[in-house]
Amino acid sequence: MSTSLPARRVYLETYGCQMNVADSEVVGGILCANGYALTRDIAEADVVLVNTCAIRENAEQRIYGRLGLFSTYKRRYPGMLVGVLGCMAERLRSNLLEDGLVDIVVGPDEYRKLPGLMERAFTGERGVAVRLSRVENYDDLTPARADGVCAWLSVMRGCDKFCTFCVVPFTRGRERSRSLESIVAEVRDLAVRGLREITLLGQNVNSFRDGHYDFADLMRNVAAVDRSMRIRFTTSHPQDMSERLIEAIAEEVNICKYVHLPVQSGSDRILGLMNRTYSVDHYRRLMHRIRKAIPGVAISTDIISGFPSESVSDHRMTVDLIRELRFDGAFTFKYSPREGTKAWEMEDNVPEEEKGRRVWEITELQHAIALEQNTELIGTAVRVLVEGQSKKSRYEYTGRTDTNRSVVFPHSDEQPGEFADIRIDRTNSATLFGIRVGDVIRAASQSLGGTAA
Ligand code: SAH
Ligand code: SF4
Ligand code: F3S
Repeated sequence: MSTSLPARRVYLETYGCQMNVADSEVVGGILCANGYALTRDIAEADVVLVNTCAIRENAEQRIYGRLGLFSTYKRRYPGMLVGVLGCMAERLRSNLLEDGLVDIVVGPDEYRKLPGLMERAFTGERGVAVRLSRVENYDDLTPARADGVCAWLSVMRGCDKFCTFCVVPFTRGRERSRSLESIVAEVRDLAVRGLREITLLGQNVNSFRDGHYDFADLMRNVAAVDRSMRIRFTTSHPQDMSERLIEAIAEEVNICKYVHLPVQSGSDRILGLMNRTYSVDHYRRLMHRIRKAIPGVAISTDIISGFPSESVSDHRMTVDLIRELRFDGAFTFKYSPREGTKAWEMEDNVPEEEKGRRVWEITELQHAIALEQNTELIGTAVRVLVEGQSKKSRYEYTGRTDTNRSVVFPHSDEQPGEFADIRIDRTNSATLFGIRVGDVIRAASQSLGGTAA
């Protein structure tokens, strides 16, 4: 492109998990390095890109809704390009071109090809790039990240677990890790830029392995970069939750005491059909070990309700397990059959309404548990990393505790990126409310630890 022309503008929208958010930043970096500019205003965009999720049917329905809307823009601004990126692009490939709404389709391992595909699409040639790679990890690229308090950082890509319900091994390909050195260098750079919280990402983040180091080594090295910076990670698989990793979380003061550890079901029969490779008892013992080794740790989970053949008694086992283990949070999903997976071959025989009823029962129970846990915090002070204005009011600010609880408080002089101690005076199941006690904490050496004294 000639440098005398104004840069073409790209509007990029992101759906799905945090890895997609991180990927969109990689895409932004690639586009900016190739003479494009990003815009937040779809009306001034020459190209509209949507980074998509395929995890459940409703995730894809939502994207189709957006594509419908983009087509109205396309009619209004002839020449505007529409591109589909991410997991749905990988799953549906050239089928997405069929109805003429889409000009380019690019899977998660082909983002380097985007500028070339876009140039050709401007000449009317539509394009698809969906090859999965065993090595691509975008290690050498600089993502276009906004300055802020929290950053996402992908440390591995893909998934080799092949849970029978899950589309991710097909949309993201085989597991591969970046090198510890390159990750630590990127974290150093983020520390210099003033970011205060880094979340290391992977679909299966604790199976990180770069040939020399495992995930526990990575966490310790990243934590040592700047002790005033919080380190989180997501998502871990129960099978790869090593003793070494538990020790690292327990010992490194700035690794957050929070683990997201999806159990999926409380029935061994269903876990077997899901190919989760652990039993309920293994999970239970693991959770006890984590809680013993890391005092005050919060553990959240994911549950799928209505997996093929899940009986009322299987469901009861899940409910009983939740009651027994008392998670700090649980995301519960209706089972959604995904073409190409092993479970797709199984009969989807729990009626939709019954799936909904089971999800509702689990959600109600989990809300009650979370409310009880939050209520216990009333009267105590918790340390939060201040993130900024709350969604509801500009007079209130919000932050999160080390254990990932959201806290809302009246704003005085706190700035995003500072730590503050908040005395909790009321709560619901999702949010704690309180007022600040003491001064804000700016100095790095003072900002360690989770709960205030
Ligand atoms: N890699 C993570 C999960 C990624 S997907 C892990 O293994 O823990 C996030 C959650 O979506 C999963 O934990 C699961 O609960 C849910 N999920 C995945 N596929 C699904 C499907 N086909 N139907 C319903 N929920 C699904
Ligand atoms: Fe999907 Fe299982 Fe891999 Fe998680 S571990 S991404 S649920 S296949
Ligand atoms: Fe969705 Fe792909 Fe993430 S399917 S959950 S965007 S890895």
